[in-house]
Amino acid sequence: MKSFVIKGDICYSENIDTLITLKDHYLVCENALCKGIYTELPLEYSSLEFFDYSGKLIIPGMTDLHTHAPQFAFRSLNMDSELLDWLNNSAFKEEAKYSDNAYALKAYEIFANALRHSVTTRACIFATIHMDATKILMDLLEKTGLLTYVGKVNMDRNSPNELCEESAEKSAEDTVRWINDTTDKLQNTYPILTPRFIPSCTDELMIKLGEIQREYNLPVQSHLSENKDEIKWVQELCPNSKNYGDAYDSFGLFGKNAKTVMAHCVYSTDEEVELMKDNGVFVAHCPASNTNLSSGIAPIKRYLEKDLKVGLGTDMAGGHSDSLFRAIADTVQMSKLCYRLVDSTTKPVTFNEAFYLATKGGGEFFGKVGSFETDYEFDAVVIDDSVLPHPQELTVYERLQRAVYLNADCKGLFAKFVKGKKII
Ligand code: GUN
Ligand code: FE
Repeated sequence: MKSFVIKGDICYSENIDTLITLKDHYLVCENALCKGIYTELPLEYSSLEFFDYSGKLIIPGMTDLHTHAPQFAFRSLNMDSELLDWLNNSAFKEEAKYSDNAYALKAYEIFANALRHSVTTRACIFATIHMDATKILMDLLEKTGLLTYVGKVNMDRNSPNELCEESAEKSAEDTVRWINDTTDKLQNTYPILTPRFIPSCTDELMIKLGEIQREYNLPVQSHLSENKDEIKWVQELCPNSKNYGDAYDSFGLFGKNAKTVMAHCVYSTDEEVELMKDNGVFVAHCPASNTNLSSGIAPIKRYLEKDLKVGLGTDMAGGHSDSLFRAIADTVQMSKLCYRLVDSTTKPVTFNEAFYLATKGGGEFFGKVGSFETDYEFDAVVIDDSVLPHPQELTVYERLQRAVYLNADCKGLFAKFVKGKKII
């Protein structure tokens, strides 16, 4: 079933400023692509299967550009520390448990089920260093029908023994085995190279990952300029690099060869931003995590003005919610604080802009994704917003804002389509 018609109250971004809202319109999906929005259904489409979602909101599926599947289990716990302590005392301890396949299966089943019932249709996901557990996660995600990149994480230094790979060589060997075991085996779940961040990967490992990237032509995900102590540490570890991004670039892992997404970018300097722009690196903005770990406020509006590619990430469990709705609201709130407290020359991010980032902005990492414009891949989420009763008349645009701000759990999730396939 890849050709059909749906009807309802349709909302999507045309560009970063323009959010279109249309009451009672028809949206056509032909061979998994969007093929037009109509007030009256043209005769040529009248024989297609029809789903009537009248009175409900239809929005593009959202892209979570950065999250950690193994951390889902401990989200909301131990939120009182900053990044490096939190990694050592919480995240690494939980991730070490994924050497046990039975635990991984149990935890990843819960994660995959939650992701299926969220507003997310596409995601870039960190697993752990464990090859078998990562494959378990990929198999479970494949069954959800969601479209995801999943990374076996690389770590061979500055990590606890139980979460530190034996050597750069072993880490690279496992990575190649995992790539060979998963590439082209699954329809919707793809491998992505995932050096955790510079502090946890030796130069030797990064050189090998650069070689693997070029051989297998894989995309790359990692963390960048998240926390001041972390950045200082990277400077000490890579004294010849001009900045944190340049350290990845020196290993060929910063966008030039490979589609790359970097999470956080809270403290990226002008020089680092230039490099991201030149190399086409995506920023995964993770406002909830940046707040919980008191990393700081990423100047997202400045990045948008410089034409960087930006999407949103939940970064669980630095972030405590898996909802892109929540990430939209957090993006607007954080940028308002940025405007008031940090840089009053840069206006806050608007609702329309944040909605764009969660849909078309992050969707671009997956191609023509995140809008209902013609020839975009058909990802849609249908929300029954009658779960949010109101006494007054509201426009479709107002209902959308309420759904995003008030319904982070997406209680009214009514239907969900990924690349033209109905998965809920
Ligand atoms: N930097 C390296 N690892 C992590 C992680 O798991 N979460 C966050 N927020 N930052 C990181
Ligand atoms: Fe992260």
